[in-house]
Amino acid sequence: MRIGILTAGGDCPGLNAVIRAAGRKLMKEGHEPIGLLRGYRGLAYRDHRPLDHPALSGLLPLGGTILSTSSYDPFRHDDGPDRVRAAMADGTLDAVIAIGGEHTMEISRTLHDRLDLPVVGVPKTIDNDIVGTDRTFGFDTAVHVATEAIDRLHSTAQSHDRVMVVEVMGRNAGWIAVTAGIAGGADGILVPETDITVEQIAATIRQRHERGKDFSIIVVSEGARLAFADGRSRRVKVNTETDEYGYERLGGIGAALAEELEAATGYETRTTVLGHIQRGGTPTATDRVLATRYGVAAAEAVIDGAFGTMVALRGTEIVRIPLAEVTGVKTVDLGLLELAQTFF
Ligand code: F6P
Repeated sequence: MRIGILTAGGDCPGLNAVIRAAGRKLMKEGHEPIGLLRGYRGLAYRDHRPLDHPALSGLLPLGGTILSTSSYDPFRHDDGPDRVRAAMADGTLDAVIAIGGEHTMEISRTLHDRLDLPVVGVPKTIDNDIVGTDRTFGFDTAVHVATEAIDRLHSTAQSHDRVMVVEVMGRNAGWIAVTAGIAGGADGILVPETDITVEQIAATIRQRHERGKDFSIIVVSEGARLAFADGRSRRVKVNTETDEYGYERLGGIGAALAEELEAATGYETRTTVLGHIQRGGTPTATDRVLATRYGVAAAEAVIDGAFGTMVALRGTEIVRIPLAEVTGVKTVDLGLLELAQTFF
């Protein structure tokens, strides 16, 4: 079989490790992997490159994706479905492995259901919010980066008696904020799943000062709302525009929160936005191993003809689940947030 491998949506540390693992397993079993460029665009426009042994070597520590990525959705373009149909009909490809987030899994499911595309999904996102899997690769790396940043901010916050607000990624779920917040010993954590008001955070900061702690670290997900005791709340965006696929550009909650906290407490407050630093660079060992397990499992699913599925981590096992089950957002475990609050 000739199997196309694609990466779609935002990039994530470990994508290359999945490409390597799936490609090498397929080759070992006598099949031919092909790299589709820029997500599903590469399938629709037949834009591919060979994935031979030299192309699949040296990839484990490499950040980003050697196949490039985009959020191209064939169903948002009039000619998209026909292009995909024609590409599959020309006999170049027998199946597709699609590595992507929730949107990519939705596209994959629709392509499988409507156009009979033989596809297997692999879940990726640093946000760890894909339904059906306990863990996505890239998350551990992002948490590692955010924790290191919090550690570094501690020493400067303490030296200057400052409040430091750290804005981390997390559009719809607060996994990075809560996990890095616990690991870094944050004094306040705000996530998209539940509103914590400016007044509540300000009270925590004041109590710390009363206990002799003249600095505080507050971690906030970019998707958290700026909320007040009188019931006002809003998400903070970079601008009012959405991208061509309808996604809002979130960002700025850190600065908005810092301004409010400084006004409420009178303590000097600064902001650090980690942004795409959390997505770039080399994956941690944990992410490399998870990505490798996913890649091999996806290749095996293709060889077994288990199309319309996504490989997923359940406990310690990699399993196959129907793409139809992969909808919505896996919200953060609020028990973890409660655990973090023990130390505020
Ligand atoms: O989905 C992962 C994520 O990191 C989100 O937390 C964030 O909103 C988004 O990517 C930003 O993506 P980009 O700036 O590349 O569009």
